[in-house]
Amino acid sequence: MDLRSEISMEKLPEHIAIIMDGNGRWAKSKGKARVIGHREGVKSVREVTEVAARLGIKYMTLYAFSTENWNRPKFEVNALMNLLVETLRKEVPTLNKNGIRLESIGDISALPKKSQNALEQAKEKTKGNTKMSLIIALNYSGRDEMVRTVQKIAAKAKDGVVKVDEINANFISNELDTKNFPDPELLIRTSGETRISNFLLWQIAYSEFYFTPVYWPAFRENEFYEAIIDFQQRERRFGKISEQL
Ligand code: FPP
Repeated sequence: MDLRSEISMEKLPEHIAIIMDGNGRWAKSKGKARVIGHREGVKSVREVTEVAARLGIKYMTLYAFSTENWNRPKFEVNALMNLLVETLRKEVPTLNKNGIRLESIGDISALPKKSQNALEQAKEKTKGNTKMSLIIALNYSGRDEMVRTVQKIAAKAKDGVVKVDEINANFISNELDTKNFPDPELLIRTSGETRISNFLLWQIAYSEFYFTPVYWPAFRENEFYEAIIDFQQRERRFGKISEQL
């Protein structure tokens, strides 16, 4: 079935966030090493990113490495960091060809120097692109972002740059890592887990959640269309009743 034709172009989400889960289990189910699952996951990243840009999605945020992921075996952390560097280096031409600007959220300063460099270079080389922003969450968690943001705001209040009673929701949004992006309308999590796991806690206040049992390496074009079609069938009320919409 051609799912693409079922998508209504007037009701596209502007921003889709994805918790890419299940690389390890996908690999295990095939009798392969976890790292092979991450490599196959990169192929899903590539396919979903290209499809999203072609459709006209303006922002896509991917949870690539959480602040908690440092607790994984050192071998796997290194493999993920190397995969990131390798992918960033390799994909810049494709990002440029597709008009995609690479951005990031999270505390980048704690990443290995070569990951920081690859990220900075990819950002620099794609900064002129305007079709879609691909935002990679790296060493990111929602609570860590809030802690860093509260520290920043407290310092501003102390220095008299902002008055305490001027700090409202809008002010906070403009201090977060995501200050340049709208909140996601749709949050996807793969692999059958139905948790948020410290992702974008502030920004998902009104997001629709889509959970699928499909492991991330198997989440490709059609699975992405299914998520968008499901989203488009929902009624988003923002606290109002149906008749007011
Ligand atoms: C979750 O699967 C996936 C991750 C923690 C890493 C996601 C990273 C990639 C797909 C590759 C790098 C990304 C980019 C943007 C180049 P899991 O390992 O938690 O799987 P499991 O829950 O089955 O063990």
